[in-house]
Amino acid sequence: MDARKAGDPMKAFAVTAQGEQPAHTDVDMPEPEPGEARVRVIAASVNGFDRAVAAGWMAAYVEHRYPVVLGREFAGIVDAVGDGVTGLQVGDRVLGVVSKPFLREGAFAEFTTAAADGGLVVAPGNLSDAQAASLGHTGSTALTILASAGDVEGKTVLVVGATGGVGTLFVQLAAAAGAEIIATGRTASGRELLAQLGATHTVDYADLDAVRALAPDGVDVAVHLAGDAGEFASLVKDGGMLVSPVLPSPDLFPEQDRLTPVPIAGYPSADALAILAELAGSGSLQVIVYREHPFDRAGQALGEFGHETIGNIVIRIG
Ligand SMILES: NC(=O)c1ccc[n+]([C@@H]2O[C@H](COP(=O)([O-])OP(=O)(O)OC[C@H]3O[C@@H](n4cnc5c(N)ncnc54)[C@H](OP(=O)(O)O)[C@@H]3O)[C@@H](O)[C@H]2O)c1
Repeated sequence: MDARKAGDPMKAFAVTAQGEQPAHTDVDMPEPEPGEARVRVIAASVNGFDRAVAAGWMAAYVEHRYPVVLGREFAGIVDAVGDGVTGLQVGDRVLGVVSKPFLREGAFAEFTTAAADGGLVVAPGNLSDAQAASLGHTGSTALTILASAGDVEGKTVLVVGATGGVGTLFVQLAAAAGAEIIATGRTASGRELLAQLGATHTVDYADLDAVRALAPDGVDVAVHLAGDAGEFASLVKDGGMLVSPVLPSPDLFPEQDRLTPVPIAGYPSADALAILAELAGSGSLQVIVYREHPFDRAGQALGEFGHETIGNIVIRIG
């Protein structure tokens, strides 16, 4: 049992001022607000959002209360609960997402806080800490993409950037929903994994002709998880849908006169986390972890994200 209390120093990987690079530093251990739980973080996964915050790109969009601790999704042990929390207890092993209207607490720290209802769920026992840490944010995003695409049963869905954290989950969810999936992966091992996860066809993302051969009339839906959407928008049939968690607003989408642009943001909800925990707990959803880094290599983990990796990059903290 850790005897530290709110306000005592704890280790974190944080940005201390606008324009500064993230670095290991001591910050105050947070106190859970009403409705929140404090979690002793065991593992946290790297996301594109963390890279955006580290690069200073999010400062124009969301309030930063420095020092801003990086890290959104994590797994750990509940260490304290705020007023009004009923569903969780000290000692529960949870997975979750830090999702507040401002940036301050984060998952790349010894302790973090998150909403008990909507930000945390008891972690399935069959998941490793690294897998549990890679489900909350990426999985919520994958579920939101699927919900936004509507009924995909029997439809052709192109997933560009399918080998990442979001893509490997989305492919499984869309396959279970009955979609015919064309998934892109750069390496043979990535494409093999995608086939095993339920992709009907796999192609190299540089080979757009292969997609045209598989879907001569165009795909119904394209999911944009990487690359330039302008390069593959022409593969979507007239009236089809382009869904993207990368492009934040419809006016940034290509071929808007022909396609329905669907920008999405992957916020967690209690329902989404419960569904993800249930699916992963029953073995219906595999969570792919590419590599774990120790906490003192958080900077390397951040730098590795998005570069020739398959699945999630995890930082082991506790
Ligand atoms: N708005 C939101 O709420 C939200 C939430 C979650 C994620 N996102 C964003 O969604 C995107 C996907 O997230 P993620 O966590 O799955 O990222 P990720 O793990 O980096 O996955 C992206 C994958 O795309 C592949 N790739 C790289 N360059 C490519 C290119 N030019 N064309 C096609 N594929 C390429 C990479 O694999 P190979 O190089 O091996 O092919 C990589 O595995 C990121 O941009 C992330 O920031 C947004």
